[in-house]
Amino acid sequence: MSGGGLAVADRSQHVPVLLHRCLELLGPALADRPAVVLDATVGLGGHAAALLHAHPALTLIGLDRDPQAIRVATERLHPYSGRLHLVHAVYDELADVLASLGIQQLDGVLFDLGVSSLQLDAVERGFS
Ligand SMILES: C[S@@+](CC[C@H](N)C(=O)[O-])C[C@H]1O[C@@H](n2cnc3c(N)ncnc32)[C@H](O)[C@@H]1O
Repeated sequence: MSGGGLAVADRSQHVPVLLHRCLELLGPALADRPAVVLDATVGLGGHAAALLHAHPALTLIGLDRDPQAIRVATERLHPYSGRLHLVHAVYDELADVLASLGIQQLDGVLFDLGVSSLQLDAVERGFS
């Protein structure tokens, strides 16, 4: 653990806001086919984990501007590493990221805007 926050194992229990509603809304576009989703703010990987679990043929690209979030998401989403691309980038760069991965079409996009508990819980990051 670093920075006084929760350990990665604890963060893996974090359930994101509106998880069920996001799965419900994206579900029809992703079900039963090799769909591709961009999670533009992957954060602690809560939405990403649920989407990858719910849709076994799904490939997910996850971006975050926070390198610590990418580290936590990489560990949490390890079981899905064969269907996952995690990239440290701001979402303004999504066109470049998709081009570099050779992805020309997306079936779903998720922007969960804001900050995460990873950032709020660590006093030294200046949000407290
Ligand atoms: C509410 S959290 C996302 C939580 C995530 N959906 C989950 O399930 O854990 C928002 C995330 O957006 C990231 N973020 C903020 N501005 C960003 C930007 N311009 N580009 C990419 N990520 C950004 C933050 O670092 C934070 O991790």
